Amino acid sequence: EYTRKADSVLALMTLEEKIGQINLPAAGDITTGQAESANIAEKIKDGKVGGLFNLKGAEKIRDVQRVAMEESRLKIPLLFGMDVIHGYETVFPIPLGISSSWDMGLIEKTARIAAEEASADGISWTFSPMTDISRDPRWGRVSEGSGEDPYLGSKIAKAMVKGYQGDDLSDPQTIMATVKHFALYGAPEAGRDYHSVDMSRQKMYNEYFPPYKAAIEAGVGSVMTAFNDVDGIPASGNKWLMTEVLRNQWGFDGFVVTDYTAINEMIDHGMGDLQTVSAMALNAGVEMDMVGEGFLTTLEKSLEEGKVTQEQIDNAARLILIAKFRLGLFDDPYRYSDPERAKSEVFTPEKRQISRELASQTFVLLKNEDNLLPLKKEGKIALVGPMANNRKNMTGTWSVAGRHDESVSLLDGLKNALGDQAEIVTARGANVAVDSLLESRISIFGKDTERDPRPDENLIAEALEISKDADVIIAAMGESAEMSGEASSMTNIELQKNQRELLKALKGTGKPVVMVLFTGRPLAIKWEEENVPAILNVWFAGSEAGDAISDALFGDVNPSGKLTATFPQNVGQVPIYYNHKNTGRPLGEGEWFQKFRSNYLDVSNEPLYPFGFGLSYTTFEYGDINLSKTSLQGNETLEITIDVTNSGEYDGAEVVQLYIRDMVASITRPVKELKGFEKIQLAAGETKTVTFELTTEDLKFYNNEIEHIWEPGEFQIMVGGNSRDVKSKMITWEE
Ligand code: IFM
Repeated sequence: EYTRKADSVLALMTLEEKIGQINLPAAGDITTGQAESANIAEKIKDGKVGGLFNLKGAEKIRDVQRVAMEESRLKIPLLFGMDVIHGYETVFPIPLGISSSWDMGLIEKTARIAAEEASADGISWTFSPMTDISRDPRWGRVSEGSGEDPYLGSKIAKAMVKGYQGDDLSDPQTIMATVKHFALYGAPEAGRDYHSVDMSRQKMYNEYFPPYKAAIEAGVGSVMTAFNDVDGIPASGNKWLMTEVLRNQWGFDGFVVTDYTAINEMIDHGMGDLQTVSAMALNAGVEMDMVGEGFLTTLEKSLEEGKVTQEQIDNAARLILIAKFRLGLFDDPYRYSDPERAKSEVFTPEKRQISRELASQTFVLLKNEDNLLPLKKEGKIALVGPMANNRKNMTGTWSVAGRHDESVSLLDGLKNALGDQAEIVTARGANVAVDSLLESRISIFGKDTERDPRPDENLIAEALEISKDADVIIAAMGESAEMSGEASSMTNIELQKNQRELLKALKGTGKPVVMVLFTGRPLAIKWEEENVPAILNVWFAGSEAGDAISDALFGDVNPSGKLTATFPQNVGQVPIYYNHKNTGRPLGEGEWFQKFRSNYLDVSNEPLYPFGFGLSYTTFEYGDINLSKTSLQGNETLEITIDVTNSGEYDGAEVVQLYIRDMVASITRPVKELKGFEKIQLAAGETKTVTFELTTEDLKFYNNEIEHIWEPGEFQIMVGGNSRDVKSKMITWEE
């Protein structure tokens, strides 16, 4: 139906208009939307623009849409896109934080609210979800993904696509999603953003592809190409990826958009001049060119010279038109820009309250010696650290539409929570790169070669002074928002020296210290683990961060987040992830070093905090695993049950995790693979039985011939509250 309609429009279009339809410029400044100044209005009138992104505000978007609808020859509505990544004006925690909730309903809700707000304000298309698996915390964009696991990543990809798109793309409260960055963008060499990627096909299919595929299966409307190369060919010109895998194997029927100037960047990849790389992208199966205008300026010539075909250009334009029909833009080009809705539905107290509630579900309690947390609302509290009184940094990276200055800082949150029940004193104690790493590199990092900020003795002295008669010190530390995210790779992922010095000084007071850790990536905080009694990892928690953190610190909410990315002991262990292979020389059980085994001389193989890890104010005890059978055949279903008891004094939530290991196979297999999880609420003293089911579908993997198969034999079944501490039983599963 949509194809027929799109074809009827296509029949009216000139070649120039068709090529214009697959051109996606940026509108200019994200908040001022200087479309005119970038001469975009003229291009729109000439039919040289299919969509626009980075324009904010319902009125502005209506104005620009009006140009297309009233002044262009064919009056084809524009798509308006934006990086709505973890909320719109109401910002939710960064995606790595959201994933730590392991709550698919919650995750879907964040995407739905983001869609409601963005659509009211004129946006019909978001460049989210980012489903790149990453096992490298040096890579700054680990903050924007869902961590290291393909199974969990796939569930999250589905939930987000559903949240954004709903069941009906033409519903003005939903927007079209984009799964990105296809493919393998999360695996750059040495964790350096945009760097080369080289991996086996087995690894791609088994470990890195599943979340992209899950988004396709959930009906995602568009796919964004990655900047990196895959198998030696840049993703944006990689026919195997864009046509063979995406279309032929996975049946994707939406359109492919490049990342920002990714076609042009193929020149630097060494693929040829702009005409060559633009033709290469179209030939590969890319439909829309973001910003670089290679399509706009060279495709006509390539067509004349026989380097691309008319059919390819038609097909690309057709897919963009179909998306516009699906979004209902041909029925009402202004349906996504409703200034009245924008006024009443964006950044409302109700949505902010939901953000607060959701944020507190994403915090991961890493350490809590002697039950230092939760704190009592009494006495004198010293709040120290660069993130203590820092509204601007609460929303984290890629929150372009966020109202950063209106975020709730930790200081605001503590004041709101405590009223006059307790006294709060505060001091910065140390600097952190606040606005942008680049700007502050000189003032904070010192010389270019010396990336660690210098401790400031005056700031430390001030912090000690205000803490001297406090009952407890809350140390708000870690990264600033822009220290993770795009183009924010780091080779040193420890807490920066000036903050470590501050912590040492605070510890020296002998007072209890609670570290509230702000971070967009797993950090190597071994010293802190060994020296600070309580650590609550809060990521970047969004607009309502301070209130949500206070809810957790004072026990109004019991932390239940679990890590979705391993925290290493030091950066030398990276990449470190739970689902690694066994090797031919695995370290003996319980050993930390054995000569001629696969290990290090200077550090054990253990991570600091494993995948799936997170404490609670209560404790959970796991019973034994019960299996419906220990030897199965073919299409049978294995039922796994386990009793989980809340053995502590607080009500709480626990994420019960199921892992398996395929003991013998035709290719080497991971020592553990997540195959199920359930988040349960347990009142103090309560026991619940959790049931998982496994079929041979869950045993499948891609073999050396890239066939999706399962192989009979022995399997280990493991259940626990994290990937390290599990109960285990063996089964056999025959043909
Ligand atoms: O969507 C982003 C992408 O993730 C990184 N490059 C820019 C795009 C558009 O802003």
